[in-house]
Amino acid sequence: MNHAVLRAQFPALNQILNDYPLCYLDTAATSQKPQMVIDSISHYYQFDNANVHRAAHQLSARATSQYEQVRHKLSQFINAQRHEEIIFTQGTTHAINTVAYGLTHQLKVGDIILIDSAAHHANIVPWQQLAQRTGAIIKSIPLNGQCRIDLEQYQALIAQKPKVVALNHVSNVLGTVNPVIELIAMAKAVGALTLIDGAQAIAHLPVDVQQLGCDFYVFSGHKMYGPTGIGVLWGDYAALDQLIPLLTGGEMIKQVSFNHTSFNQLPNRLEAGTPAIAEVIGLGSAIDFLNQQDRATCLQHEQQLINYLQQQLQAITGIELYGAHADNIGAVAFNLQGEHHQDIGILLDQQGVAIRCGHHCAMPLIESLQIKGCCRASLGIYSNQQDIDIFINALKDVIELLG
Ligand SMILES: Cc1ncc(COP(=O)(O)O)c(C=O)c1O
Repeated sequence: MNHAVLRAQFPALNQILNDYPLCYLDTAATSQKPQMVIDSISHYYQFDNANVHRAAHQLSARATSQYEQVRHKLSQFINAQRHEEIIFTQGTTHAINTVAYGLTHQLKVGDIILIDSAAHHANIVPWQQLAQRTGAIIKSIPLNGQCRIDLEQYQALIAQKPKVVALNHVSNVLGTVNPVIELIAMAKAVGALTLIDGAQAIAHLPVDVQQLGCDFYVFSGHKMYGPTGIGVLWGDYAALDQLIPLLTGGEMIKQVSFNHTSFNQLPNRLEAGTPAIAEVIGLGSAIDFLNQQDRATCLQHEQQLINYLQQQLQAITGIELYGAHADNIGAVAFNLQGEHHQDIGILLDQQGVAIRCGHHCAMPLIESLQIKGCCRASLGIYSNQQDIDIFINALKDVIELLG
């Protein structure tokens, strides 16, 4: 498809801010939504709104059928073995909390939980809470000078037989891609449970959970052109089935009395309460949108843009890039020497350029880079070279203003 036609499907991109056209480079925080996703949510509320799984009436049957179809769609999208392995959550954070809480009975004092040093807080804090409940120990996997996982040190940590290994697929700050197949295989060889945070990968890379070989893979709808408030926990059926439910009540039960409750089968067992029905339907539409694209061509387009962005930034005196590699995905992290990252963001915003500045919910990574924070420009399927040129020119103006 012609890229201009693809981009035109995202209405929010077509707006003026302070007399400047919006230049949206914050897709890693949340992506914009194509019209078909917006329409599907609105259609559900206009015509099909009912609770799922509960009533005998037709509206409920329609809502339930659409809701469950998305589970099947997702299972094909990531090549899950069974659709019951798709658990709807509020997002990546909720998905990781579901796993970390669910493993409480499986860990004991002294067990090791290994965490990627570049992990998002969502892939750190739930494990810390699990460690506090069980007496397990958190160890972080160091990065090398190129901001990639240090494979020798990883091997040494794996030799200590961790119980859980939690990794990024793609770093939300740097855009670096972990060699997940290799890392998962090493962890599985010592019997560790593996969780991959795919929040920054799913919209860009093809994901095949059977090929990856992990136990859990998690992501958010809003970073893959779908709505907020919905995400996915995929798990191997047996691994999911052993999780203690984080939330209880509603349809997650089989039988309830005041003395005892038995839980339902997967996926219901891990989906307590009325789910985010409209958001699930919107996510289904986002999958349709992605399936309509030639994903390999889109990935190539995004990679060319990232490389162009890296080169343009590198050519500016005083700009420092972090972990910039040719095979990065989606994001570029940088600072301007002598200036606060927040000032850069605010001044760029005055010219309609949206980037993110701060610690990006990855404080341990920011600390290891010995900085207080940084700017991040991030791209999506709709980004084009003009976005980058506008951003670079605005950044040059900002540098002149500050200089
Ligand atoms: C790598 C990564 N993990 C987890 C999250 C948390 O996602 P959510 O806020 O949708 O739960 C994010 C969000 O930025 C992320 O980039």
